[in-house]
Amino acid sequence: MPKSLRKRLAEKDSCQGLSRMETRKASVKEVGEIHKLLSRYADHGLLLPRSLSEIYNHLRDYSVIDDANGAIIAACALGVCWEDLGEIRSLAVVEGHQGKGLGTLLVNNCMKEAASLGLKQIFALTYVSDFFIKAGFRVIEKSTLPHKVWADCLKCPKFPDCDEIAMLKDL
Ligand SMILES: CC(C)(COP(=O)(O)OP(=O)(O)OC[C@H]1O[C@@H](n2cnc3c(N)ncnc32)[C@H](O)[C@@H]1OP(=O)(O)O)[C@@H](O)C(=O)NCCC(=O)NCCS
Repeated sequence: MPKSLRKRLAEKDSCQGLSRMETRKASVKEVGEIHKLLSRYADHGLLLPRSLSEIYNHLRDYSVIDDANGAIIAACALGVCWEDLGEIRSLAVVEGHQGKGLGTLLVNNCMKEAASLGLKQIFALTYVSDFFIKAGFRVIEKSTLPHKVWADCLKCPKFPDCDEIAMLKDL
């Protein structure tokens, strides 16, 4: 974890145990909780909706952070799209815990995992471009992403009028 982030977590949340926060892989019994967290934002069009079945099928992609009581307060999935390319999907932090570095922690974790798998680049489709710029991503033309990426978009209620911003980072 970067030193600045550790410091921020320690300063803001030592009383709630957040300074000890770490990402970990999700488990099968947590699918319902992850689904609820993602659905809150999907209902507002901020995330692509994920069914319970999709989360079960891709459970090994998911990392989570839980609070001192074991409740999941943040989640994120790393998808492998193609030989060199990974995608950050379903990134969400519960409202009461936003702005504490948890989103950054999950994205950094995804980047490490992607690099360890041998991926060379990672992208996200998002409305929060400033957050991703702070994580080292840059804006790219959506059309430069491989066609394979758009399979998921067919499930999006906004398809084909996607207004998300494509962001890319070299690993
Ligand atoms: C976007 C989200 C994941 C960010 O998580 P977070 O834990 O609140 O973010 P962090 O605390 O790690 O923030 C890191 C930096 O990004 C900035 N940032 C966070 N959310 C932002 C947003 N929505 N817009 C612009 N900047 C944002 C923070 O201010 C912080 O900047 P700083 O380092 O200068 O203080 C979280 O707000 C969220 O779950 N939003 C709703 C769902 C969503 O939009 N998900 C993204 C789908 S791709």
